[in-house]
Amino acid sequence: MRVQLLSIFSAAQVVIAMPGMTPEMAAKVIARQSLPSNLPLSSLEGNSGPIPSLGFDPVDQFVNVEPGTTHQFIAPGPNDERGPCPGLNAAANHGFLQRNGINTIQQTVTGLSQAYSFGDEFAAALSVIAIALTGDPVAGTWSIGGPYSGALGLLSEPEGISFSHNQYESDASPARYDAYLNNGDAHSLNLPRFDQLYFSAENFTLDVLRDHNKLTNEYSVQNNPYFFSAPFAGLVPPIAHHFIVNLMSNHSADNIQGYLNRDILKTFFSVSGPDNAHVWSAGQEQIPQNWYKRPSTNPYGAVPAVADVAILATKYPQVVEFGGNTGTVNSFTGVDPADISGGVYNAQTLLQGKNLGCFFFQAAQQGIPVALSGIVSNLAPVVALVNQYISPVLSELNCPALNSFNTSAFDQFPGSKYRPQPSA
Ligand code: HEM
Ligand SMILES: *[C@@H]1O[C@H](CO)[C@@H](O)[C@H](O)[C@H]1NC(C)=O
Ligand SMILES: *[C@@H]1O[C@H](CO)[C@@H](O)[C@H](O)[C@H]1NC(C)=O
Ligand SMILES: *[C@@H]1O[C@H](CO)[C@@H](O)[C@H](O)[C@H]1NC(C)=O
Repeated sequence: MRVQLLSIFSAAQVVIAMPGMTPEMAAKVIARQSLPSNLPLSSLEGNSGPIPSLGFDPVDQFVNVEPGTTHQFIAPGPNDERGPCPGLNAAANHGFLQRNGINTIQQTVTGLSQAYSFGDEFAAALSVIAIALTGDPVAGTWSIGGPYSGALGLLSEPEGISFSHNQYESDASPARYDAYLNNGDAHSLNLPRFDQLYFSAENFTLDVLRDHNKLTNEYSVQNNPYFFSAPFAGLVPPIAHHFIVNLMSNHSADNIQGYLNRDILKTFFSVSGPDNAHVWSAGQEQIPQNWYKRPSTNPYGAVPAVADVAILATKYPQVVEFGGNTGTVNSFTGVDPADISGGVYNAQTLLQGKNLGCFFFQAAQQGIPVALSGIVSNLAPVVALVNQYISPVLSELNCPALNSFNTSAFDQFPGSKYRPQPSA
């Protein structure tokens, strides 16, 4: 398995950064395009992810959020939307995204690049999926929280990513509840879950987050009879586990790859108080002062994100399995990707190279027409918009064509039909 990953990823210039690696060493690794093979992959990775950062530039990387400046923290007002994603909430609280929480594709791309050096095409693809699945495809906007009034011509109100269970938001999140275990509320912080992560380390690496992901996945299998992991949405929580380290770490000349301590984690997750009495304040997520993002020359985009999930899969394959519990706890049943994809992927090939990433975006693309029925009367322009933004990512990943997408295998999972509504 590992060898296959090495060979496929080397073509995409994906290498593992060693903690303490100098830029010169890293450059040599990139030039060689190969991975060290004598240590476990996950534990060799630095906090910049599979493509190491090559230097530290304080001017490029400083994110100025000082009080009195354009991007100072302002707590959201009663009509501002905030939801399950701390990265988006913090970006909105500092005006990198629209402070009301409703954004276009362009606003998302620009804002997340400024705040985090998030990859442009990745931001655009994730936004267009949010627009199509949970937003306003007529106005071209989406909500980082709950429902808002959409444009004239929409057949129903956009619900926002807070109420996108199994379409975007999913079970086994780093620090959010499973919807079914919390009366449909999957956007509030699960403080015991946060603390489980918080106390598991003093500085957070990808390896620490992958171990946490194993635990979050096991907890859902063991406690949630409605646990369900869909081909697109089911990969969002594993990706989010990796976002924490890749996008929230602080960078400096001494820590070029980045360093994430407990205080920074608390600030981004809006958790305050002493270690024995943590308090979560909804919607108050912040970018810390004196914080330096990853270099803009090494954005975190679809290619590294997909490589990170593939590395996770070599360590804990069960975490990226599609399927669910069948109505009782501990009844997890996997679905053969070949049955869903018409044989384009199978259980072995799905975890090889970039296939998992391909399937992630392709599944979103395939699910969109179904999700849109009842929301817009004319699907064609929305589908075209989605394709316009997802196609570049698919070609970047060099994906095979997916001509059939059969979801009947999901019928055995009651959780796949569970759609909590905003009033919940
Ligand atoms: C357009 C870009 C983005 C979209 C559409 C998006 C969407 C989401 C969604 C739907 C969730 C809920 C998933 C779940 O149920 O676990 C989520 C969670 C999360 N996102 Fe984002 N996100 C984006 C960008 C970011 C960025 C830039 C960061 C980091 C700076 C980030 C960090 C996280 C984290 C850490 C979680 C897990 C939260 C928890 O479990 O407490 N996301 N995101
Ligand atoms: C970060 O934590 C790991 C153990 O989780 C430890 O080995 C490493 O030395 C720490 N790094 C720093 C810079 O404190
Ligand atoms: C980030 O690192 C720099 C250099 O070590 C440090 O001065 C700064 O306080 C750190 N920022 C945070 C939020 O910890
Ligand atoms: C869809 O998948 C189900 C179960 O996996 C299978 O029984 C059915 O024949 C498939 N339908 C098509 C059109 O391939």
